[in-house]
Amino acid sequence: MRLNTGQETFDMIKIGALVSGGGTNLQAIMDAIDKGGINAEVAAVVSSKEGAYALERAKSRGIENTVIRKKNFKTAEEYELALAEYFKERDIDLIVLAGFMVILGTTFVNQFENRIINIHPALIPSFCGEGFYGLHVHEAALKAGVKVTGATVHFVTAECDAGPIILQKAVDVMDNDTPETLQRRVMEQAEWVIYPKAVRLFADNKLEIADGIVKRR
Ligand code: GRF
Repeated sequence: MRLNTGQETFDMIKIGALVSGGGTNLQAIMDAIDKGGINAEVAAVVSSKEGAYALERAKSRGIENTVIRKKNFKTAEEYELALAEYFKERDIDLIVLAGFMVILGTTFVNQFENRIINIHPALIPSFCGEGFYGLHVHEAALKAGVKVTGATVHFVTAECDAGPIILQKAVDVMDNDTPETLQRRVMEQAEWVIYPKAVRLFADNKLEIADGIVKRR
């Protein structure tokens, strides 16, 4: 657990990651931690799917990992309670959603208020909310003809993609982009840059939320 010593120094925070896929954002966070300057460790990784490559990334670093599948539970609430219990048993301070394909409700979110963050591959409030995931986000951006898109790191509330915004970074859209090329550029230029930065700000206790707005301390 993090302790405020009164001297602006904190114990290392423990991160729990929720994943479903490739885990490139998890990788970017782990790499940034390795480079130094982020007072955090990834302590546990939970996947909603068997075989997610993100699990291999955790295993290769000796990070505790497991699969907790929604369909093994009778209700969404039971699933969320199991996830919450897993992280609580491990004293997790910050939960990072890194390509997690399950929408979390109040059962989970209320137990980790202001301690769950997510990355969305667009500039919220554009191209977000239910149905806007993966390539669909970039298809929608291209269809709208926007010239700039990007990524957003935000705190997670029970309303999909609507929690307080922590960081955003813009990325140019090119005339010849496909959803795939745009997705890649958004990842490289925005997601992998701002997600580790947001983790660092959280770990350094630099984020403050007032009236739904994040301010830096
Ligand atoms: C990323 O585009 C992220 O913005 C979104 O899901 C994708 C996950 O990719 N939430 P990865 O698993 O981190 O590679």
